Amino acid sequence: MRATGQKNRIAPQAEIRTKRDFLDMATLGPDELSGLLALAARLKAELKSGIEHPYLRGRTLAMIFQKPSLRTRITFETGMAQLGGHAIYLAPSDIGIGERETVKDVARNLSRWIDLIMIRTFAHETCLELAREASVPVINGLTDLLHPCQVLADLQTLREHFGRDLSKLRIAFVGDGFNLAQSWIEAAGLLGFDLRLAVPPGYEPEKRFIERMRREEIGVLTSDPLKAVTGADVVYTDTWTSMGREKEAAQRRRDFKEFQVNSALLRHAAKDALVMHCLPAHRGEEITDEVIDGPSSIVLDQAENRLHAQKAVMVWLLRPEVLAHAALTHGA
Ligand code: CP
Ligand code: NVA
Repeated sequence: MRATGQKNRIAPQAEIRTKRDFLDMATLGPDELSGLLALAARLKAELKSGIEHPYLRGRTLAMIFQKPSLRTRITFETGMAQLGGHAIYLAPSDIGIGERETVKDVARNLSRWIDLIMIRTFAHETCLELAREASVPVINGLTDLLHPCQVLADLQTLREHFGRDLSKLRIAFVGDGFNLAQSWIEAAGLLGFDLRLAVPPGYEPEKRFIERMRREEIGVLTSDPLKAVTGADVVYTDTWTSMGREKEAAQRRRDFKEFQVNSALLRHAAKDALVMHCLPAHRGEEITDEVIDGPSSIVLDQAENRLHAQKAVMVWLLRPEVLAHAALTHGA
């Protein structure tokens, strides 16, 4: 039988010749990053005007979660639906990746049925292995090392407030030198803004990130929140106790006591400085109610932009020609 409906047919796996993954910010070139952010902005504007683009009609996303989530799950699932595709949520107890079945076997099975995989897991190596073994693109939805989807949405949010060129900004990150902080180091390496990282002794980023900061002269690492925040255009914070570290919560509350983003600390930032948080927030710990609910806070813009930024990532991975077109017509 002759094939019909050529335009709308679903691309067979074999057509994805050289697949790309989105595992970290560092694999993006500055032009690609700009293109993604331009596409995210376009998708957001179009959604608000009621314009739909079913770029991923007939495509399926598998979402593997080994940790809880509100934002990541809802935005990937909603984003896929808005793009005409379908998302399947796999809870930790569903597939037991690496326990019930090896990462390699999960990757190879999923690659036979679906078009795209998102994983939220503990060890970054699991994410890397999944990407190596899968023939379809893999997206990092948070590991203990990095959270690139969050920082991509954050950059989209910053562009909305400061314009396209973020290189002149001073961004203070106050808190744990963990996945978020490490993704911010990658972003600073790409975009050249001044990153001031304030972390308590013992909670610094992994050695390779500290070395990268030194080698590439990326920002400043300090244990003094005041030093980091002074003159900053943006003050960013994250939970003191990340998922998987819950047993350390009491000790961490003591160690991070001086690292709360509150009104007194904010007074040292630049006039009209913005406050960011990836959420979930622990009110009264890393951030006060007054600050997170105050006029400087853009945390809900960040959360909203997870939807648009991740739609751009999914379109880029499965329909790269759309990203190229967006960059040409809207200027990256
Ligand atoms: N910021 C973020 O990734 O939120 P969730 O953990 O709710 O997905
Ligand atoms: N650092 C936090 C980020 C949550 C989005 C965690 O890993 O739990």
